[in-house]
Amino acid sequence: MSLNKEIAKRRTFAIIAHPDAGKTTLTEKLLLFGGAIQTAGAVKSNKIDTATKSDWMEIEKQRGISVATSVMGFEYKDIKINLLDTPGHQDFAEDTYRTLTAVDSVIMVIDCVKGVEIQTEKLMEVCRMRNTPVICFINKLDREGRDPYELLDEVEEKLNIQVRPLSWPIGMGKAFKGVYNLYDRKLNLFSPSQRKLSDDRAVFDDLSEDRLDELIGRNNADQLREDVELIEGVYPDFDTKEYLEGKVAPVFFGSAVNNFGVNEMLDTFIRIAPAPKSRNTEDREVLPSESKFSGFVFKIHANMDPNHRNRIAFLRICSGKFERNKPYNHVRGPKPLRFSNVTQFMAQDREMVDEAFPGDIIGLYDTGNLKIGDTLTDGENMTFKGIPSFSPEIFKEVINKDAMKTKQMEKGLKQLMEEGVAQLFTFDMGSRKVIGTVGQLQFEVIQFRLKQEYNASVEFAPMQLYKACWISSSDKKKLDEFVQSKNRHIARDKDGKLVFMAESRSWLQMVQDNYPEIEFHFTSEF
Ligand code: G4P
Repeated sequence: MSLNKEIAKRRTFAIIAHPDAGKTTLTEKLLLFGGAIQTAGAVKSNKIDTATKSDWMEIEKQRGISVATSVMGFEYKDIKINLLDTPGHQDFAEDTYRTLTAVDSVIMVIDCVKGVEIQTEKLMEVCRMRNTPVICFINKLDREGRDPYELLDEVEEKLNIQVRPLSWPIGMGKAFKGVYNLYDRKLNLFSPSQRKLSDDRAVFDDLSEDRLDELIGRNNADQLREDVELIEGVYPDFDTKEYLEGKVAPVFFGSAVNNFGVNEMLDTFIRIAPAPKSRNTEDREVLPSESKFSGFVFKIHANMDPNHRNRIAFLRICSGKFERNKPYNHVRGPKPLRFSNVTQFMAQDREMVDEAFPGDIIGLYDTGNLKIGDTLTDGENMTFKGIPSFSPEIFKEVINKDAMKTKQMEKGLKQLMEEGVAQLFTFDMGSRKVIGTVGQLQFEVIQFRLKQEYNASVEFAPMQLYKACWISSSDKKKLDEFVQSKNRHIARDKDGKLVFMAESRSWLQMVQDNYPEIEFHFTSEF
């Protein structure tokens, strides 16, 4: 098959949701449709239960699950779908952000009882940074939820994106009758089922037909007629181009656990969702159809087996064809790399592959050469953009509790940082090491894993820090002067980039005012 055909048949996306909205359930139903799994309950939730979050085995179990569910590939109607999993727990938000750099679109699940929740808002901000196209699935219609118009308004308001319903619910909760597909004008009557793969749908080109009253009752039929008239009047026609630009989100209503409304969404998804898109490097745009291979690492899983220091690097292919055993340019590294152990992920199985195409995610077995953000190419020296580190929210100083194990600690810290567990900043003065995270949980993970995997003991001392700001200036002399005069507050990130460690918001503001020629950045990419 030609490269262009391979590209055209791929869709790479993630499901994002606030925990409990139904991401795992929806994932499972999509896999059922793809024939990738046979039974309900096969997909394990990647949730860390807050009640058990101090249980370290739980975190380890979680890491095991998250390898299994990192990427789930399946075929549906001749389309190869790569579904990337995102961690539900907010403390792993950074992991989710990075995963979102590797997809071309997202499906966002919203609980119709709870509406737009905080994690959804944050994730949407990340999608907006890259204008990622979003399809919205409003879930749990079998429950007494909020008024659908109200929900749509809330999505528009809180997520700052226009919406266009493509299906419409008839009743809700106990009175839920089904959904009407506004696009192909079909009525899908609700019948609860865990496994249903096809539904008989009645076509209604004209909703004034009496048949409608017979099927859903007079009141519901009148309400639906009124709703449809209103929607068609209020919302402009759905425009795929606007969806692809990330301006309009088509909305579907359904109930994932009852496998209801999922089919409608999936069929629309494969029709409108983007095939692998072009990506920017620091110098130029790379088209998927370019003959030479390129890709970037967005996730690393290390030390799954305590007896072997092996890691799996997850690589998103951006252009050309990837071939096993072929040496590729590791742009940041000293020498080309060749991979003999390459896996692809089909549902929950991993299988060895010899070749892979743009949009595919492959797992590369690595002995420590790769880190997050690395680019591999078939020759060209270029680096993909869009995998920034964000300024963390919580900072703590690392205290080494066992001086005999300093080497192990440093190695462990380096590897965990390469895996993207947290960010390490090293102060210029005194080489103090500070870890920055988005959540408290990471400190516990780091402490536990350093002990388990590297036999090193650390503690963390809280630090009064507000932000880590990457600094730059077009005037090198001024930058040097700034670094000199603020040397107590200057640190380096993992790549040796200069970072200003600001103690408070007001102080940062003052420093910014006093040094107008210095630029302060809240992400590592600018
Ligand atoms: P998440 O991955 O987004 O965190 O959510 P998950 O799919 O685990 O779903 C969270 C809970 O919501 C689950 O219930 C699940 O069964 C339920 N759920 C998902 N879709 C629907 C739906 O359409 N209607 C209703 N009523 N519930 C739904 P749970 O009690 O936490 O777990 P379980 O024991 O039922 O699996």
